Amino acid sequence: MSRAGRFIVLEGLDGAGTTTQSRLLGERLRGLGRRAHVTAEPSGGPVGALLRQVLQQRINGGGGGGFDPSALALLFAADRLDHLSAEVLPRLAAGEDVISDRYTLSSLAYQSLTTGDARWVAEVNGLARAPDLTIFLRVRARLALVRRRGAGTTPELYEVDAFQRRVARSYERALVSLRASGQRIAVLDGEQPVAQVADAVAALVAALRRR
Ligand code: TYD
Repeated sequence: MSRAGRFIVLEGLDGAGTTTQSRLLGERLRGLGRRAHVTAEPSGGPVGALLRQVLQQRINGGGGGGFDPSALALLFAADRLDHLSAEVLPRLAAGEDVISDRYTLSSLAYQSLTTGDARWVAEVNGLARAPDLTIFLRVRARLALVRRRGAGTTPELYEVDAFQRRVARSYERALVSLRASGQRIAVLDGEQPVAQVADAVAALVAALRRR
């Protein structure tokens, strides 16, 4: 019987480098001969596809205006459970490591702000299995903004400068509450060069014992 894989989550502001570091970690683990699957939230499933349309501001809520913030928070939570059962859990059970670019901590940071109710956001995410490790890439909002501008992509729903500064503070609060709930969380300086951050991420993962 194969042992379960490890579930690792990368988190941070838009522009913190979670996508790059998720990919690099996957490559590094595969280089060590492990099976590793890199995924992201919003997921590639049906609820994730809907969320991406909302984030790109291609669709509105039923009334034609913006989406109700609580409805959106439930969609992120629903996407998470669908992602888990369809993609994450089967791979972990088959012994594969799974790396997710964003997970529950994103909802605790972003949706706690948009709904104004951090406890409710935690509650609706209560069924989402805890990762073996969440790695938060800490980057100042100002630097994240410079990186997003450098990428030259069209800003999405939450990629507004003033909002990102609030998200940075919200992440710090969410880190405290997730830690208090007993989850394993590491914080890295995401402002270091990409290769240095990748080494630090790999070292944290190497220190994790297989479940
Ligand atoms: P991002 O991860 O930057 O993906 P992409 O590079 O494809 O645009 O975008 C996802 C956005 O969704 C980001 O602004 C954070 C937000 N988000 C939430 O607000 N709550 C969540 O639970 C998740 C997973 C993401």
